[in-house]
Amino acid sequence: MDAITPQPRPCWIAGRPEQGAGELTVTHPYDGTEVASVAVPGPDQVERAVAAAAEVAASFRRTPAHVRAAALEHVSRALAERAEEIAETITAENGKPLKWANVEVNRAVATFRFAAEEARRFSGELQRLDTDQGGTGRMAVIRQVSRGPVLAIAPFNFPLNLVAHKVAPALAVGSPVVVKPASSTPLSALLLGELLAETDLPEGAFSVLPVRGSQMNALVTDERLPVISFTGSTGVGWSLMDSAPRKHVLMELGSNSAAIVCPDWTDVDTAASRIATFGNYQAGQSCIAVQRVIVHRDVADKFVPALVNAVQGLRTGDPHDPEVEVGPLIDEDNARRVEQWITEAVSAGARVLTGGARTGTSVQPTVLTDVPADAKVRGQEVFGPVLVVSVVDSVDEAFAEANDTEYGLQAGVFTRDVRVAFRAAAELEVGGVIIGDVPSYRADQMPYGGVKGSGTGREGVRSAMADFTEQRTMVLTGIDL
Ligand code: SIN
Repeated sequence: MDAITPQPRPCWIAGRPEQGAGELTVTHPYDGTEVASVAVPGPDQVERAVAAAAEVAASFRRTPAHVRAAALEHVSRALAERAEEIAETITAENGKPLKWANVEVNRAVATFRFAAEEARRFSGELQRLDTDQGGTGRMAVIRQVSRGPVLAIAPFNFPLNLVAHKVAPALAVGSPVVVKPASSTPLSALLLGELLAETDLPEGAFSVLPVRGSQMNALVTDERLPVISFTGSTGVGWSLMDSAPRKHVLMELGSNSAAIVCPDWTDVDTAASRIATFGNYQAGQSCIAVQRVIVHRDVADKFVPALVNAVQGLRTGDPHDPEVEVGPLIDEDNARRVEQWITEAVSAGARVLTGGARTGTSVQPTVLTDVPADAKVRGQEVFGPVLVVSVVDSVDEAFAEANDTEYGLQAGVFTRDVRVAFRAAAELEVGGVIIGDVPSYRADQMPYGGVKGSGTGREGVRSAMADFTEQRTMVLTGIDL
């Protein structure tokens, strides 16, 4: 009997599964084995997906909130029911340890649940206009109306939850969504397509198109997709904005996030353990992974050895081992780049306190100090398991150093002094400050996004819903207020 060749995983065109015009192979970042092949849609399929999104937009934005909420609740429940399988999929395509893949699935369950709740709450506002004589007897009813179909371009580092952060708020406000997952990690997004197809969402409300990067520009410039929500590298993000100057573009870009350890923070072991873990989770491939560690001299003597010890204690290896905390990078090119950046820093005078070596796609958790300010590992986003420690003499100096970067996503400040906390929130040039913890803390309902080179717009379910909509005002006249 002939062997049956399994078909590539289907893409989703206007809510239906289809085979593509080509296929791409997903390989395991840890050992290079083939994980799956995926249908790549051709131009006519992409055209049908976009046309269907444009076609359904007017009616979809008027669907009752309970219908949209029911679909989102279904996805949340289904993700929870299939959590184990989905976490395995994330680990297989992305290489992130199972431990972190489980966290990601739980977060996506919550993201869809929040979106269902917000879909029911999202009501706009009333504004009284009789605050001045000319407005006597008038009132404004301000509704948030979908801006239209969203092009969601997702990165490889959270192949499920960063897709969820675009899809769930879009559907919650009645915006059709066309997803372009990362080419290296399309499987979780395709699986999400399967769950969305189990709902009563109308044809065209979603498509998942694992097209190659070279096919993306046609989507970016297509006027039928007036909103772009992009998460990815800073260079690609800004060039994409230049290609679509008239679109509403939301961008979550890179960062070299700082954790600051203040002189009043005496529990150095806790700070060291949190920074070690969140400099290296997902092998540092998170935009809010700790990269720069800025520690006050008063606590440095105890903190730095504790940090090195905590980093050395992290278990590395096969990401399917539930005990492993640090796995491979997404591919060998990136692992080589990180190794190269470490080597360059060392040639310029940096000292390696631990780590520094690479094997295949894995880079050892690394701590560097005495790193020159212009070294890439300090000034650019490493997106690898590298911590750069510097010692400062004051909180002023710490804040100045934290701000001395083109990025500004989140910062963590270890302090118990409420005055320092408020100063940090006021002075640090970032979208979010986490007091008493690492910059890597993110709750999926809170606003999340950057300033400066880290992007524009905010995710977090309610914030993204606001970004995907525009205000429409109706003024009522002759109202008895
Ligand atoms: C990111 O890498 O920007 C996302 C971080 C997160 O969702 O935890």
